[in-house]
Amino acid sequence: MYKIVKKRQLNPTVTMMDIYAPLVAKKAQAGQFIILRADDDGERIPLTVAGYDRINGTVKIIFQVVGDSTMSLNDKKEGEYISDFVGPLGKPTETEGIRKVCIVGGGVGCAIALPVAQRFKELGAEVHSIIGFRNKDLVILEDEFRACSDRLTLMTDDGSYGTKGVVTAPLKEAIESGEKYDMVIAIGPLVMMKFVVATTKPYNVPTTVSMNPIMIDGTGMCGGCRLTVGGKTKFACVDGPDFNGFEVDFDEAMLRSTMYSDFERHEREEHCNLFKKEAE
Ligand SMILES: Cc1cc2nc3c(=O)[nH]c(=O)nc-3n(C[C@H](O)[C@H](O)[C@H](O)COP(=O)(O)OP(=O)(O)OC[C@H]3O[C@@H](n4cnc5c(N)ncnc54)[C@H](O)[C@@H]3O)c2cc1C
Ligand code: FES
Repeated sequence: MYKIVKKRQLNPTVTMMDIYAPLVAKKAQAGQFIILRADDDGERIPLTVAGYDRINGTVKIIFQVVGDSTMSLNDKKEGEYISDFVGPLGKPTETEGIRKVCIVGGGVGCAIALPVAQRFKELGAEVHSIIGFRNKDLVILEDEFRACSDRLTLMTDDGSYGTKGVVTAPLKEAIESGEKYDMVIAIGPLVMMKFVVATTKPYNVPTTVSMNPIMIDGTGMCGGCRLTVGGKTKFACVDGPDFNGFEVDFDEAMLRSTMYSDFERHEREEHCNLFKKEAE
């Protein structure tokens, strides 16, 4: 059992938790993920390591409540326990030789992007961050990004905070104004990453994307997380989650991501009905 040492709501649908898991905290690196089950009969939930404290043995996770399993996790209170917490899984983000990087985060993808930005800062790289949200109420981790970025641009779709527009606009502007990035790293919704790649490709700026397809075992055995990268089949859990954005087949990934939509909607509705009945 793994104790929830701290729980904090970051916005109406995003929650942060520090979990006591000293063995994971000891080895975790930016870009890796864990798989947890809130309860013994729960579904596996892959979540990125959003931070770690090797001294106190805690691992930070930041998750958006989107369906049945994340609702169950969010029902847990500080001081309570979750059943399983396995990791670190996947490959850490490649940092070798990168002196100047632009991190592009979208929505809850910013939770995944933050430890990457922090790691580059620690290594002495120049970090430009561009983070985007639908509106002001959904903004998360602004102070944390400010602390580890040499330049931070915050965008909202509706202009209710920061600059109005999508993340690709300031990215294009920066590249066209002569910023020479060794790497652009995009983490967020598939469609956002697809458009980041469409922005950087004409300028040939190396671009890494973090792919989060549906995962089951997280160890390369079930094939659930397969993607086509450079014309070859890859498993995001063991070959990624980071991949060369120029090589990812985004259209196929988007199609596969909607495969279980009906089932997921049904489970979400069941959870809400159960919650309503318990409240009555
Ligand atoms: C490597 C990796 C890292 C991730 N990191 C984060 C993170 O840091 N924060 C965060 O909020 N989310 C993260 N996710 C997504 C998160 O795992 C899903 O939101 C969660 O599993 C949804 O479960 P649910 O039952 O609540 O929702 P459901 O109703 O079951 O599904 C809602 C949506 O969540 C996604 N999803 C569902 N099950 C899985 C699964 N087993 N694997 C991957 N995606 C799934 C699908 O896109 C689905 O359409 C990550 C996913 C992967 C693969
Ligand atoms: S999750 Fe099973 S192969 Fe990757």
